[in-house]
Amino acid sequence: MRSRFPKGVSVLLRILGLLCGLLTALAARDLLAWLLARPKIRLPALACLLHEVAINGPGILRRAVNDFSLWRLIEYPVITQMLDLQPGAWVLDIGSGTSSYPLMLAREGATVVLAELDEERVRWQRDKLAAQGGIRGTMYPVVADATALPFRDAAFGRVSAISSIEHIPDDRAVGREIGRVLRPGGVAAISVPYTFGERESFFAGIRDFARVGRNEFRQVGKGGLVRFYTDDDVEQRFGPPVGCHITERCYFGRRILNDGYHETRLTRYWNTLVLKDLLLAWTVHPLEEALLRHTEPFDVMFRLERARD
Ligand SMILES: C[S@@+](CC[C@H](N)C(=O)[O-])C[C@H]1O[C@@H](n2cnc3c(N)ncnc32)[C@H](O)[C@@H]1O
Repeated sequence: MRSRFPKGVSVLLRILGLLCGLLTALAARDLLAWLLARPKIRLPALACLLHEVAINGPGILRRAVNDFSLWRLIEYPVITQMLDLQPGAWVLDIGSGTSSYPLMLAREGATVVLAELDEERVRWQRDKLAAQGGIRGTMYPVVADATALPFRDAAFGRVSAISSIEHIPDDRAVGREIGRVLRPGGVAAISVPYTFGERESFFAGIRDFARVGRNEFRQVGKGGLVRFYTDDDVEQRFGPPVGCHITERCYFGRRILNDGYHETRLTRYWNTLVLKDLLLAWTVHPLEEALLRHTEPFDVMFRLERARD
């Protein structure tokens, strides 16, 4: 049958149709994985987005009110998988900020203790919790310093720390505290910025960061610290010296998502259009991990296990 449209337009329509089909298939796969994964707690990217909308309202799709973004849509699913949680499990989340991640886990049935230094942010988390109706698990927001946690030895079977330890000056103390509060055989899942060896710059495209040490940067005028970790740094801070061993590592944010997106002026739109971030997490992230493994990633996510005594 002859098309009513000029040839160029009908080719474009066909490509759009294929793209929509692909995205629908990816959404269906994510949804199916989520539904079939019970009773294990799984948070595929689509589920994270649905939780965010339930917690913060649909406005989150246009403009995130917290750190929710492309990076979190990659981190939350992997970190949750590494934690290997069943409903009812206790998790300590370190440096939660105003992230919805602890509440997402609680909505899925976990009991989450969040340890955050900033009182305002802990209040924000308490308010969010109070506004939730009928969640399956629960959450205990605590003002606490990750370098001196107010919990007894071996108190937790699971610990998460998502993009938080790189901002803490004494990260060795945090590693020791994670080793201390994890019970033997317990698991932590952590994400931090990564480098093969040495980073000369950070956010070259849009914000001004001064180099203040090997792989350490501070935002000019603000002072917030960001640190990049090599594989050796990860071993030294979170491995054998603190009684743990690293059992898994995954990376993200390579040539396209980091060099071509995150570290350029495009980050001006960083907090906008979360749906675009979902599409990037679904499509570009797996492609990068399949094809660009030789290029430097922006972050590493790793799983560590506390040695059994
Ligand atoms: C980038 S935010 C965390 C992002 C969050 N985990 C997420 O999933 O989006 C880093 C957080 O670490 C917190 N923080 C900094 N130093 C800390 C410390 N010593 N103990 C606990 N939290 C700390 C900061 O207040 C901030 O809220």
